[in-house]
Amino acid sequence: MDRTNCGPVAGVRSNSFNYVEERTMAWPTGAPCPLLADGTTPYDRGRSLLIRNGEAIRVCRTATRDFSDVEIETTKRRLEQIYVDVSDKHAPDDFATDLRKLAVLPECTTCGVYESCTRCYQMVQDDIFTRDDAPLLALLAEVRGDVLDVGCGDARYGDVLAPLVTAGLVRYRGVEPNAEAAARLRGRWPWASITEAPVETLDLDGASYDHVLVLRSYNHFRDPLRVIPALVGALRPGGTLLVADNVAFGLVRDERQAERAEAGPARFEHYRNDAAEQVVDALAFLPLDLVRRAEVAPATSNQW
Ligand SMILES: C[S@@+](CC[C@H](N)C(=O)[O-])C[C@H]1O[C@@H](n2cnc3c(N)ncnc32)[C@H](O)[C@@H]1O
Ligand code: SF4
Repeated sequence: MDRTNCGPVAGVRSNSFNYVEERTMAWPTGAPCPLLADGTTPYDRGRSLLIRNGEAIRVCRTATRDFSDVEIETTKRRLEQIYVDVSDKHAPDDFATDLRKLAVLPECTTCGVYESCTRCYQMVQDDIFTRDDAPLLALLAEVRGDVLDVGCGDARYGDVLAPLVTAGLVRYRGVEPNAEAAARLRGRWPWASITEAPVETLDLDGASYDHVLVLRSYNHFRDPLRVIPALVGALRPGGTLLVADNVAFGLVRDERQAERAEAGPARFEHYRNDAAEQVVDALAFLPLDLVRRAEVAPATSNQW
């Protein structure tokens, strides 16, 4: 989702921005990079995005005002969380199918102007989303006892959870404020206890869970510093809090895709795009031991 006509927002905000192709230029095989002859200065380090495909370079640009230049540079250059949207959707909802990651060209990493240049990228075919979800699936396969899944959404992890519940190893309670999602979940997961409510309204007095799951819902909470302590207070001694989420990302779209997405029905749903480091810092005051932490990096997807 992207909006291009206003300044950085407080309250709900976008979790992605669009790069739109402006033109192409040639980079013949075996020839030096054309930017070395023409100069690198016409291109912004963050707002320009060059993608090599064979002997052509797509020159793209983002005009977003939802993200500051520093945020755009962090997303594009430090974390390399930029993707080509190969879907026909208003907003990608199945990243493994809808998106292809971009990675810096090997030629750039040894180039003398690497630090100052906008750099050039190429599409990676590997499905990094499924790969990076595997450790999360493995952690879910280990849960036992009473499980509270906050913002359980669309039954994404049913294949792992259902056998645990039917084997009597897990008692599962999901919390989901979206009425349609909660109804869908009740239909698909007859074994689950689903509470249709925002987590902020849950009465957790006397509640006692072995595991609390906050999977891609943390960045949706208006005030996580109110929500998370209450959830931690509902954990049994030795219980675990599992938080996973996504950082912001840039999407390469053609003019038609971008216009359709920006006019589409998708709403801003995130209050922030925090990464693991911000969440670990923010929750440092809680009586928790950090057992495991996964970072977003150039070689990973945007999930931590
Ligand atoms: C990106 S989806 C993630 C769904 C699922 N946990 C997953 O990992 O696929 C975020 C979910 O958080 C839910 N959510 C948003 N605000 C919430 C709140 N205040 N309390 C509980 N859930 C919330 C949304 O309705 C949505 O289902
Ligand atoms: S860093 Fe990459 S894009 Fe920039 S001049 Fe060098 S090879 Fe070309």
